[in-house]
Amino acid sequence: MASQSSSNKLHEPLVVKGATQPTKLLLLGGNGFIGTEICKLALDQGLSVSSLSRSGRSSTREPWADKVEWHKGNLLEPESLKGAMTGVSVVISLVGGFGSYEEMIQMNGTANINAIRVAAEKGVERFVFVSAADFRAVEGLIRGYHEGKRLAEAELKSKFPEKCVILRPGYVYGTKQLGSMKLPLWPVFAPFEMVLQHFGPLYRLPLVGPFFTPPISVAAVAKLALRGATDPAFPHGAIEIHDMIRLSKQK
Ligand SMILES: NC(=O)c1ccc[n+]([C@@H]2O[C@H](COP(=O)([O-])OP(=O)(O)OC[C@H]3O[C@@H](n4cnc5c(N)ncnc54)[C@H](OP(=O)(O)O)[C@@H]3O)[C@@H](O)[C@H]2O)c1
Repeated sequence: MASQSSSNKLHEPLVVKGATQPTKLLLLGGNGFIGTEICKLALDQGLSVSSLSRSGRSSTREPWADKVEWHKGNLLEPESLKGAMTGVSVVISLVGGFGSYEEMIQMNGTANINAIRVAAEKGVERFVFVSAADFRAVEGLIRGYHEGKRLAEAELKSKFPEKCVILRPGYVYGTKQLGSMKLPLWPVFAPFEMVLQHFGPLYRLPLVGPFFTPPISVAAVAKLALRGATDPAFPHGAIEIHDMIRLSKQK
């Protein structure tokens, strides 16, 4: 009789611990920088993966992209999310960005608040939000960015009190795609992460704080987002950068 080998198990759909159904994951912004990394990792783990964004399918020609269900939709138009959210157990939102004050409130705040409300209505079980660290020194310049993120965090905590994970990275490094060129930034940022993770609370200092905020790799953020999405034992609520780095080192 064939034994239950670990290689077979790798191909079984991953199930949220304690849940009866295989996890169906929807990434909001799965075609972006961090979203792409999460898509690939989630597929490796046997999850069913879908993504929604304004442009829909990722521009990559890599074979993993054929295994993702790509939806077009806009978080600022809640009706456009409903189809993609149907039957979904976990949502991870990567939506956010920069612009004028009003645009940043919309992209980081309103857009995510809409998604959180539709997810709650549709009976989604867990919601992971990739937010951002406080950068006090430059907060005046990108006030709408942080205000928007915090508004979305507050909505998430109210709609998914014990079932939300909020990741607050500073700078996320990895291989950036520049047109058809790939630019690996690991050698530049990994040493900063190694050193700055030992500087602890200095990142809270006014003015100089951002310089002490360790960067984190896109692979680590993807791993944490997926653990937050699938492991109910993972801490809920907001997770600051030093805790992110510590948790990312756990097996
Ligand atoms: N990268 C970093 O260093 C870093 C650091 C800290 C925090 N973060 C946060 O992490 C999140 C992901 O970052 P990233 O670098 O992966 O960003 P990204 O590459 O710009 O990805 C953002 C994604 O959101 C989608 N999107 C934007 N507005 C949308 C809307 N209204 N409706 C639907 N989809 C929308 C975009 O796709 P379409 O254009 O096709 O819609 C894109 O796929 C962001 O919220 C960012 O603020 C990033």
